[in-house]
Amino acid sequence: MKKFSIVIAGGGSTFTPGIVMMLLENQERLPIRKLKLYDNFAERQETVAEACKILLQERAPQIEFSYTTDPVDAFSDIDFCMAHIRPGLYAMRELDEKIPLKHGCVGQETCGAGGIAYGLRSIPAVIELIDYMEKYSPKAWMLNYSNPAAIVAEACRVLRPKAQVLNICDMPIDIENRFAEILGYKSRKQFDVMYYGLNHFGWWTEIKDTSTGENLMPRIRKHVKENGYLTPSGMNGVQHADDSWKDTFIKVRDVYALDPQTMPNTYLKYYLYPDYVVEHSNKDFTRANEVMAGREKKVFTECRRIIANGTAKDTSIQVEEHASYIVDLATAIAFNTKERMLLIVPNNGSIGNFDPTATVEIPCIVDNSGAKPMQIGNIPEFQKGMMNQQVSVEKLVVEAHIEGSYLKLWQALTLSATIPSAAVAKAILDDLIEANKDYWVTLN
Ligand code: NAD
Ligand code: G6P
Ligand code: MN
Repeated sequence: MKKFSIVIAGGGSTFTPGIVMMLLENQERLPIRKLKLYDNFAERQETVAEACKILLQERAPQIEFSYTTDPVDAFSDIDFCMAHIRPGLYAMRELDEKIPLKHGCVGQETCGAGGIAYGLRSIPAVIELIDYMEKYSPKAWMLNYSNPAAIVAEACRVLRPKAQVLNICDMPIDIENRFAEILGYKSRKQFDVMYYGLNHFGWWTEIKDTSTGENLMPRIRKHVKENGYLTPSGMNGVQHADDSWKDTFIKVRDVYALDPQTMPNTYLKYYLYPDYVVEHSNKDFTRANEVMAGREKKVFTECRRIIANGTAKDTSIQVEEHASYIVDLATAIAFNTKERMLLIVPNNGSIGNFDPTATVEIPCIVDNSGAKPMQIGNIPEFQKGMMNQQVSVEKLVVEAHIEGSYLKLWQALTLSATIPSAAVAKAILDDLIEANKDYWVTLN
């Protein structure tokens, strides 16, 4: 069986150790000959990488492991780049959340003004990774889950339309895992689903038992009406286990109420209930603070402990099993499996009554030539209206980046359903420009 060479971009990410463990668990499906970590922050990456080195020596010494900040080393001789970078780190996520909140608006990593700010940092950084990959390993594929995926994917569509990049999000995976638990199924892979929308902005229209064809929606509805996506066990794996995520899963009840024919993505709460979200936010301690004090601290403390002890045999780092969707995606390309997966792709007529140039999240068949989006047909007025507005936000952000246009960015913020007026949009924008001056293109 062929063995693959992989670079993880964002080697210093809090998710890297769990993803490395997950890759080891999946060696039968996706055998690895070479694994490299790449980051532009040497010190941060070193801690994660030295711990991963020990882990790999103990569990998979046959894999050639290295880490680097040199793009030539990182991107030469690779089959896949798994990209999860965060330009500006958690320090900037904190500002993305706190600046809009200061103006009474949703402060969130990927939605509203915060997501727009993060988008303008991520666009040039992800494009740079694509260019490195195309230069040093032109046949390689990038599996990108760097956020904000909606804006990043739209930038890929406009700026690098021919690049071998697939953009993917793990939120639908987690939600489908919840459906499985709610219904007493072993795995979400026992479902055939239909879903459409934008990234962090979509709806399931069908959830069927793959083997019997039974429509499972009625049973899920009963649960969601009462409990949202909160499951009996209270959680699913390591991610999305904090209390703030529990609030999000319960709030699904109210999001669902707006269209009980479908099952919503959790992120719709930011667009449909922004007033509720702001009221329930702590302006001084946001999700970024929670993650810095939680996941980030835990991961780095554990990496340092592994390094100090010289062994990872007793490590508390858990396999990011839910992240095995990345292996599903890689194997679909490598072995032409034709797996059906939700990806963020150009619409191109899949949603019949929607802008063909919009970047949407829909089921695709993945084979060795990439993603083939499925036909969705026409969508209802409510969803179409919401999506139209949000697509324009995302398009305007990418245009603002390319043209260096203050005006287009102001229009983007004004159009966001999370911001009440052009005046508030302008006030937020001016604060964001100041905070992001080391990252954003110059706006005129
Ligand atoms: P993190 O800050 O812990 O790690 C990100 C790493 O990227 C850091 O080590 C940083 O130095 C590095 N980096 C930043 N800019 C870079 C650049 N230009 N080139 C190379 N490396 C760079 O962040 P995290 O919380 O682990 O998240 C990582 C990313 O994964 C984020 O974008 C996050 O939003 C994303 N994510 C996406 C999904 C999804 O569903 N799509 C799920 C989880 C996380
Ligand atoms: C979900 C989303 C990701 C997002 C993450 C945030 O997994 O799909 O796109 O990055 O949540 O989680 P966090 O724990 O960092 O708040
Ligand atoms: Mn996501």
